[in-house]
This record gives sequence, C-alpha cells and structure tokens, in this order.
Amino acid sequence: MARVLCQAIVKEFSPGSRAVDDVSLDIADGELLVMVGPSGCGKSTLLRIVAGLETPTSGEVRIGDAVVNDLSPQQRNVAMVFQDYALYPHMTVRRNLEFPLRMRRMARTDIDARVARTAELLGLSPLLERLPKQLSGGQRQRVAMGRALVREPSVSLLDEPLSNLDAKLRVQVRAEIAELQRRTGTTMVYVTHDQVEAMTLGHRVAVLDHGRLQQVAPPAELYERPVNAFVAGFLGSPPMNLLRAGVSRVGDGLVLRVGAQTVGVAVDGGGDGNGGPRAGAGAGDEGVGRAGASGGNAAGAGAGSRGASGVGSGGVGGEGVGGGGVGGERVGGERVGGESVGSGGVGGERVGGETVARLDRGEIARVATVGIRPEAVELDMGDATAGSLRATVEHVELLGHETLVHTSLTGGGEETQRVVARVQGTHALIPGSTVRLRLPARALHFFDAQGMALRKDR
Ligand SMILES: Nc1ncnc2c1ncn2[C@@H]1O[C@H](COP(=O)(O)OP(=O)(O)OP(=O)(O)O)[C@@H](O)[C@H]1O
Ligand SMILES: [Mg+2]
Repeated sequence: MARVLCQAIVKEFSPGSRAVDDVSLDIADGELLVMVGPSGCGKSTLLRIVAGLETPTSGEVRIGDAVVNDLSPQQRNVAMVFQDYALYPHMTVRRNLEFPLRMRRMARTDIDARVARTAELLGLSPLLERLPKQLSGGQRQRVAMGRALVREPSVSLLDEPLSNLDAKLRVQVRAEIAELQRRTGTTMVYVTHDQVEAMTLGHRVAVLDHGRLQQVAPPAELYERPVNAFVAGFLGSPPMNLLRAGVSRVGDGLVLRVGAQTVGVAVDGGGDGNGGPRAGAGAGDEGVGRAGASGGNAAGAGAGSRGASGVGSGGVGGEGVGGGGVGGERVGGERVGGESVGSGGVGGERVGGETVARLDRGEIARVATVGIRPEAVELDMGDATAGSLRATVEHVELLGHETLVHTSLTGGGEETQRVVARVQGTHALIPGSTVRLRLPARALHFFDAQGMALRKDR
C-alpha cells in the first residue's frame, strides 16, 4: 500500500489553458479520498496523471517513496477504473477478470481464488461465463471495476465507477467498495458527482474548481467550515443558501441587510468563554426570550408569551450551543408560527457555522455574502414576526420525511434572491403565500466579496 503525493501539478493541454492548476495533494497510505467538482474541473485529468496515462506539464507525482513521473502505468502498480471503461468484448466476464492476473503470470490457483473473491464481492459470480454484450450497463461497469480491483493494487483510482448503476445497486456497491477498501487497506482516489457518495465514502473530500484545489478536509469539516462560497454552494443537497447581504453590528446584536429588508439577528453570549456554570433565562412579551449563556456548563431557557405553547428550554453545553426557547405551534417537529423565540446562548464557539462573535469590526465590514444551510433556516407562518425575513413561497417539494420550501425574498431589487428551507415532515404550503424566514446567528456563514470565508480560528 502506498501514500500518494501530488506536488504542484499543472496540466496544460493548450498553452495558457490549465486543466489542472497547481494542485498539491497528500493522500495518506490506506486513505479513501473522494474528489468532487463540476464537470470539466480537471478530476479525470488529475487521476490520469497519477495513473501515468497523462504527463503533467509540471509538478511531481510520488507513490510510496518514489517519484513516478517517468514510470509507465504498469510500473506504478496503480489500477484505474475509467469513466468510459471498456471490456474485452470477445472474452467472458471470467476471462476479463483474469486478464490482468495472467499478464502478471500469477499461478492458476491464485488466479481462480482472486477472481472468485472479486466476483463474489461485486455480485458477478452468476455472470462469469457471459460475454460483455450479454450484460446490462451496470453489470459491465462492475466487471470493469472487478478487473481493476482483482489485482489488489497498492493504489486504486476510480473515476465515477458507479454512474451506470441504479440507485439501489449504487448504495450496495458503494458499501462494498468501502468495505473492500477497509479490508485491503488500498489507497483509493474516488471521483464522483454524487454528494451522498462523497460525504459517506470519503475519509477526506477534495473539492476542485477550474483545475484548482479549493479545499480538502473530512466530510463534516467541509460541510461545517467551507473555506469559500464555492465549496459552501457546491456541497449539500440542496446546497447552502448564499445571499448577497451586508452586516453591521448593533450593540451585542447583528443587523443583516438583504435587498430592501433589514433584520436583527440575536447574537447571544458574545463569548466570554470563562466556562463556569451559569444559567440565564428570559421571557418576552413580544417573543424574544433570550437565554444568556457562555462557555462551560451554561444553560439557558427562553419562554415567549405569545406562542400557543410558548416555552422552550435552551440546553447549552461546553460547546456553547443554545437551544431555542420556542413558542407557537409545532408542525412536524419544526417550529412554525408563533412570535416567541428564545434564542440560544452561543458561547463564542462555533456551532455548525461561525458565530458573529468571532468576527471583528473589520471583518464585519467586509461581509458581502451570508450563507445558511437549508436545514438551519427556520420557517414561520404569519406576517409580522420580528427578526425574520419576508419571503414568498415559490414551490414546495414534498419528500415524505421532509419538505423543501423554495422561496424568494421580498424586496430583493432587480435580482431575486432565493432561499430554500428544509423542514421536517410534510407541509402543504401554497405557492404565492408569504412566509417568514428566521436565520439563527449561530448557523450563519460569512464570505467577503471574493467569496473567501470570514472567520477567525482562535
Ligand atoms: N485530451 C485533452 N485535450 C484537450 N483538452 C482536454 C483533454 N482532456 C481534457 N481536456 C480538458 O481539460 C479540462 C478538464 O477535463 P477533465 O476530463 O479532467 O474534467 P472532469 O473534471 O473529469 O469532468 P467530468 O466531470 O465531466 O468528467 C476540460 O476543460 C477538458 O475539456
Ligand atoms: Mg471526468
């Protein structure tokens, strides 16, 4: 097994136009790295460079301890499953699988054992005597994958290996690949367009755009702490909402300007972070029950008087999370309606996003885009709720366990700003109706005019 190191890889197919632009990647021995990015961003080209099928314009590829730039694909002990794989049409599935092993003059009994094991793993055992033309597209793809994996190479490069499989088979084969990778400890680079695949399969995920590496990080970190608006808007399904917005700080609160709307967002517990047990409780007539909290074992409770069942407790822990005190009806587990909000204490720690408490004055002034994940948007029915944005329902996608509510903000100027909210359960909202969107401060992401995330890693 082997570590794979790409150092400052550049590939120009024509002068001045870079398919891969200065990519450096350090893939650990035994790691499963997933590579994602839009069509044409250079994923296949980078994979082919590692495999030795393409020569980089500049840069170095190392596998294990050796620089492999001058080695042929065969000498690299790398297996690759292509996006457009091809099987030997005149050979049976068994012969196709045996082929790479026979090329290596492996003993017959070893070949049989390896082929049987690989076929079993990929569900190909009943198909071994068939010719490729007698297989479905998905079955052919699995044979192509089997042919690469049967060699048990030190590095496997898979370029969208499951794209021809139906959804159910895809889930199954994906689990098998993960298991195979774990068991054999092969270093694997796996290209996919599939969000779920990227998040579930990868130890780390590398995001490429226009030939440039944007971020490489474990899935959860990529999701919670995207380094720029591109990554924020690429991952997640639906992806993060990105709004052109300005921000200013008023007292310990935050004011968000989106189009013609201005909205106050509570930023609690500005983060003194001194960690002692504290408790705060608040209640408000017009529905802002604020839970004071800081780091440590703080706890908060908020109660609003105008909601139908307007009490909520703010549980807070060492990570500084404040649950909201909640008023109003509950619809499918998601808060809807009511004007009462007990906003949670945020102890200056990051919770799902970056709190404003971490931005200084200069950074606040540079905010050009505000991001929020659909699941963090809180949807209120009714009209005059303070601290929320007015929006019109555009369309509603009922998915059974959850509902995606597509809205456009009111007063957005010439360019409509859209926000998708993901709410639990089924909501029959009528297109054209008005809703209120609340954006909790703790879930906001901030980006500057260049799209770079504004945050402090203190
Ligand atoms: N042999 C080639 N000659 C010239 N340009 C090429 C060649 N191969 C790829 N390119 C270009 O390099 C860029 C990167 O292509 P690549 O195939 O690596 O993209 P990709 O990320 O794999 O896209 P997809 O998701 O569509 O497979 C594209 O603009 C493509 O047109
Ligand atoms: Mg490709």
